[in-house]
Amino acid sequence: MAVHLAVVYYSATGNVHKLAEAVARGGAGRGAEVRLRRVPELAPDTAIDANPAWRAHVDATKDSVPEAMLEDLEWATAYAFGTPTRYGNVSAQLKQFIDTTGGLWQAGVFHNKPVTSFTSSLNRHGGQESTLLSLNNVFYHWGCIIVPLGYTDPLLFASGGNPYGTSWPSSGGEEPDQAVLEAADYQGRHLVQIAEQLRG
Ligand SMILES: Cc1cc2nc3c(=O)[nH]c(=O)nc-3n(C[C@H](O)[C@H](O)[C@H](O)COP(=O)(O)O)c2cc1C
Repeated sequence: MAVHLAVVYYSATGNVHKLAEAVARGGAGRGAEVRLRRVPELAPDTAIDANPAWRAHVDATKDSVPEAMLEDLEWATAYAFGTPTRYGNVSAQLKQFIDTTGGLWQAGVFHNKPVTSFTSSLNRHGGQESTLLSLNNVFYHWGCIIVPLGYTDPLLFASGGNPYGTSWPSSGGEEPDQAVLEAADYQGRHLVQIAEQLRG
């Protein structure tokens, strides 16, 4: 049976969305069945409307990317989670979804499943690593097996060489570049490969 990969993310202005798509592509390229899922938005329309890029992204994805459901987490045998940095931490939107998983945690649904994570911040040193490390705290509690990028492939150096997970500094105002998309694609492939090895 193919690995079931759930790529679950939050993105306000589209950067993490682009990374999530690349992770999903990589996982699918390695033969996994993939579900790309965005978590529900929590912000009020007044906040979203105040930022044209945020409004445009919400409108662009509301029909094209399904919302994440707990059933996606039960279905999956491997996880990739993405979030923008929020003051060096996980976005409230992704955390809110994670905080609905108590029943799954109790049932042991997450045990021994491989998980990896990715992020985007405005500044290169604006908290990418602390964001991924914060997500990892959840994964320890879940009993998952954290799959870092490390320096497991030379292509990772071109994307900034973040061993914790793919990360993109969006301060230039451009979308994630080719090097970081390749790193995210690799992260998806790498995760699925580890999932296959764990399955034996
Ligand atoms: C409330 C808030 C807090 C943020 N905190 C940080 C931060 O601590 N460091 C940083 O570099 N960028 C920070 N940012 C910027 C976002 O992380 C950054 O724009 C990211 O690329 C957005 O990803 P997205 O396009 O997927 O939404 C913050 C943005 C908001 C709205």
